[in-house]
Amino acid sequence: MTRYISLKEALTLLEQGELVAIPTETVYGLAADITQDQAIRKIFDLKSRPYNHPLIVHIATLKQLQDCISHLPPYAKALIEAFWPGPLTLVLPKSDNISNLITAEQDSVGIRMPSHPVARELLLAFGKPLAAPSANRYESISPTRAEHVYKEFGDTLAILEGGPSEVGLESTIVDARYETHYQILRPGMISQAQIQSVIGTLAHYQSLSDSLAVSGNKKKHYSPNKPLWIFNTPEELSSLFKHASKLAGIVLHTQDSRFVKQIQLSNHPKEYAKNLYHALRLADASDCQAIAIEEPPKTAEWEAIQDKIKRASTKPAP
Ligand code: TXA
Ligand code: MG
Repeated sequence: MTRYISLKEALTLLEQGELVAIPTETVYGLAADITQDQAIRKIFDLKSRPYNHPLIVHIATLKQLQDCISHLPPYAKALIEAFWPGPLTLVLPKSDNISNLITAEQDSVGIRMPSHPVARELLLAFGKPLAAPSANRYESISPTRAEHVYKEFGDTLAILEGGPSEVGLESTIVDARYETHYQILRPGMISQAQIQSVIGTLAHYQSLSDSLAVSGNKKKHYSPNKPLWIFNTPEELSSLFKHASKLAGIVLHTQDSRFVKQIQLSNHPKEYAKNLYHALRLADASDCQAIAIEEPPKTAEWEAIQDKIKRASTKPAP
């Protein structure tokens, strides 16, 4: 099987119940036809993902949304008008059309309408929604470029190329199952403040206390293979060098010739987010013992980035 395929080949494979890695504006997804349970099973098998972690359903039209859900609270409608197509996933009460395999036996389904032009074209031509988790092995970093998917799965997986993902972090997930309150299950580049400003008085925010299974919210996630250590000050960086002499650095302002590899990221959060996972992969592949990452600002625009870095990081053993 050739690894990079055309849109036409992707449509054929999906119809035959095969998996295809597809580009989206957040991260690349590992897509399967939602109407074929045996295709959905292949997603879990290939990723080594436990069956109790539900998948996100990707749609192209509001008609498809109606077919997948049983209810849409008014504030969820407002979010859809504001942010779709785009990097927002809504968890909504599911309809009978959605297989229990996709939702991990829950009565809700995570749905989003991606904005990536290739994903949209594919979904429109396919005419059915596609279930797709991020196209990486369980617990590793999400792919934001086709080459990341290829490095992870090799020739076994057909890939539809769509360039680097513009957003670069996974979608924001909002739990919209209830009429009067909502929760943010996973932070993303659509911030809590943006969501709040659209919802206004239609519903109130409730902080996360529910027991829904959200794999992106496990404490450790998105990890590179090498340890990832956070630093703020030059003193903190120097103390990291005492733990490992060969460090790769992912920096904002710091320049340090001791790094075996130094990757500078933008101080604009959107640009930073777009390149973060690529930087983590590059640093991971370098001849280092650990990766030192300069902590980004603690302001609201950096909230999702902070969250991803924290989850991927550890501390050096004392
Ligand atoms: O940006 C994204 O969301 C990417 C692209 C490919 O769309 N997808 C993605 O999928 O990040 P995945 O499977 O890596 O993460 C999906 C998250 C998981 O944490 C899962 O638990 C949660 O969505 N999720 C899906 N359905 C859910 C549901 N019914 N209730 C609660 N959480 C759900
Ligand atoms: Mg994932």
